[in-house]
Amino acid sequence: MYQKKRILLIVTGGIAAYKTPELVRRLRERSIDVQCILTKAASEFVTPLALSAVSSNPVYQDLFELDESSDMGHIQLSRNADLVVVAPATADIIAKAATGLANDLASTALLATDKPVMMSPAMNVRMWDHPATQNNLQTLKSRGVTMIGPEEGDMACGEHGMGRMVDPMDIVDAVTNFFDQDGPLTGKKALVTSGPTHEPIDPVRYIANRSSGKQGHAIAAELAKLGADVTLVSGPSQQPDPTSVKVIKIESARDMLAACENSLPCDIAVFAAAVADWRVDLEAEQKLKKDGTGQIPDLKLTENPDILATISQHPDKRPTLVIGFAAETEHVIEHAQAKRERKKCDWIIANDVSPATNTFGGDENTVHLIAKNQCEAWPKLTKSDVAKRLAHYIADQMKEEQA
Ligand code: CTP
Repeated sequence: MYQKKRILLIVTGGIAAYKTPELVRRLRERSIDVQCILTKAASEFVTPLALSAVSSNPVYQDLFELDESSDMGHIQLSRNADLVVVAPATADIIAKAATGLANDLASTALLATDKPVMMSPAMNVRMWDHPATQNNLQTLKSRGVTMIGPEEGDMACGEHGMGRMVDPMDIVDAVTNFFDQDGPLTGKKALVTSGPTHEPIDPVRYIANRSSGKQGHAIAAELAKLGADVTLVSGPSQQPDPTSVKVIKIESARDMLAACENSLPCDIAVFAAAVADWRVDLEAEQKLKKDGTGQIPDLKLTENPDILATISQHPDKRPTLVIGFAAETEHVIEHAQAKRERKKCDWIIANDVSPATNTFGGDENTVHLIAKNQCEAWPKLTKSDVAKRLAHYIADQMKEEQA
């Protein structure tokens, strides 16, 4: 079934650790290879011997036992797996992972891994509700960590509420769903920009636009569903972070460009953000004040870098497929075609954003896909259906590139 799939299971010190031999057994039944790391606190609830017996693998406990004399270094251990699962994940390991602490084998492996991470939190309800824990969870989710649970129920400490680890079978389901997600874009890296940018005038004012981020966020989500490893660089947006996507939040066009450049190399890049074309040349350090004379500030604007054009013409890290959007209010196709040539991208998605269409901020989009010798009109679709269709076109194109 899942032969050749490997999991690194990190067991941390919650009472739910006693359920992990059952979890390992169920994973092994599905032919998934499981390597375990056990923290010192977890070994109070489950023995290394029990986990070693059910996994048929050695159990790792100490950072310093993994040296040249052992057959596995901690970096190798953290990268050998296809997926890292932390179950139960205590408030402590969640905090360490969110802040990047690496003072034992479990936290070091989490910092060193380049593989997707799932966590199954388990803790007392007050610890779960604490703003510190909730902030740490947000941080981890924005980096693409998937949370499985917790659930509500009676706790070992006698309290009732959120914080109980989910049933081991729920973790098995999340793991097998993850492996089943191997899709046409598995192994491909994608970069997506989304939302507006905010260009500061002074510490309290900025220039912005009405972009909601709906289209860009939906594209990131759909590419991830097809198996791509997605980084979403988003300007200020109310949209929730898509699951299994690494989200980088920025404010200005210059920050967006820097975040995009740092995310290279990648295979696919989709520029859906409504980047502000201009910024104020000299941002005021203090709030601009009315001086009583009725004089109006003279804001001198300067042009922002063009992120799409920069990445499309990157000297050595140009993505294989670069896709831009063209927001137009008239001569939509002609303007979009010219924009594609000017910005040197492969495809451009032309959308009519004239006020009557309600595209900016709305839920629907009527677009044309424009490539070098091609212009395809798509019917009016919801933004999530535009994203779905585009993700499948991208997958087909990447297959052709590979053939
Ligand atoms: N874009 C970008 N960086 C900018 C401006 C635009 O990356 N500084 C990208 C957008 O994300 C989009 C494409 O370029 O994919 C076209 O954006 P659009 O606003 O339609 O075009 P502009 O270049 O701003 O041109 P104009 O406003 O003159 O139509």
